[in-house]
Amino acid sequence: MNYDVKDIKLAREGVLRIEWANQNMPVLNRIKARFKKEKPLKGKRLAACLHVTTETASLMQTLKAGGAQVFLCASNPLSTQDDVAASLVKNDKISTFAIKGENNKTYYKHIHAVIDQKPHYTMDDGADLVSTLHSERKEMLEFLEGGTEETTTGVIRLKSMAADKVLQYPIVAVNDAQTKHFFDNRYGTGQSTIDGIIRATNRLLAGSTFVVCGYGWCGRGLAMRARGMGAKVVVTEVDSLAALEAVMDGFTVMPIKKAAKEGDFFCTVTGNINVIRQEHFKVMKDGAIVANSGHFNVELDLKGLNALAKKKRMIREFVEEYLLQDGRRINILGDGRLINLAAAEGHPSSVMDMSFANQALSIEYMVKMKKALPLDVHPVPQRIDTAIANEKLAAMGTKIDRLTPEQKKYLSSWDLGT
Ligand code: ADE
Repeated sequence: MNYDVKDIKLAREGVLRIEWANQNMPVLNRIKARFKKEKPLKGKRLAACLHVTTETASLMQTLKAGGAQVFLCASNPLSTQDDVAASLVKNDKISTFAIKGENNKTYYKHIHAVIDQKPHYTMDDGADLVSTLHSERKEMLEFLEGGTEETTTGVIRLKSMAADKVLQYPIVAVNDAQTKHFFDNRYGTGQSTIDGIIRATNRLLAGSTFVVCGYGWCGRGLAMRARGMGAKVVVTEVDSLAALEAVMDGFTVMPIKKAAKEGDFFCTVTGNINVIRQEHFKVMKDGAIVANSGHFNVELDLKGLNALAKKKRMIREFVEEYLLQDGRRINILGDGRLINLAAAEGHPSSVMDMSFANQALSIEYMVKMKKALPLDVHPVPQRIDTAIANEKLAAMGTKIDRLTPEQKKYLSSWDLGT
């Protein structure tokens, strides 16, 4: 079996942490048990490019239980948990290619390693795997039957590939399922980003001004949790509707140019490029702490900041202090990479339970469709989304009401008015 991990001896720690995550993933566990019996993925090779975490390990075990041959690489050079990668190889016999802190060359070498296995299905988080297949490894496209995408940024990339008519196999946009982005993007990002910032800095949020750039699902979750920690939260936006929502949610909204002068903490969650630029670094307070929790490390203009700096040093693990010509210090966390996975452990397992249930069931759905899906980016079928919501509620012991026959009739009628 091929693999490339930091140290196989770390497997002993990894297996315990995976078990800890599994304890909080009831929906995925039920799918795993059914997959073990039914083997719906039998004979399929699956290449996954995901953050290599304890929760991802649980998903890989599920796919393997379903009969798939699974190959895993990292979807970010800094997000791998080395003990998990080791355990997947040693205990689960899953070919894993991922090392925390790998450079760009190794990152892509690992993506090529999973492509070398001639996958029938891909599972991506950010679309680097699909994009490499379509640019550098076109000869492998003939084996591909379908794929899934985990995140907003990846779905945007894949939709532009479909619009440009270059996408060569169908994709299911797991991110767009309601049981994914309502919970993972909001509550997962909200908690894990605060966790990453605190683990990296050990600074007090109470009483500080915390600037959240972007008020999509991730921004909403982050702003909500920063407020919960006692920070004064400022939101920056480019979309008028999202800005209005932030105002009505009780946040102060202003342009980044103004917020740059006021913030103690900054975190970007926009999915866009150069959101905090040189002109903004120029006016920040001495000691400002700047992080990103969007998928790619392009949201902070680190080149622009570099040009202002006379010296840089790692003052703590994950905190790089840029000393500017005028004596001010700007602290960049985790090299501008998604801070919740770089300095913390990503979203907690309870929320990944639903995201990864969507992943497992979407792959099963594609296999069942037997290549009948058109070349496009498709939604997760509503019945899968609803089934996951029902399973999660049941696992939490929460019961809900049912419509009475009278209510059902009322909802489908148009003649009952005032
Ligand atoms: N993305 C965010 N959090 C994650 C986690 N815990 N595992 C895998 N992918 C993630």
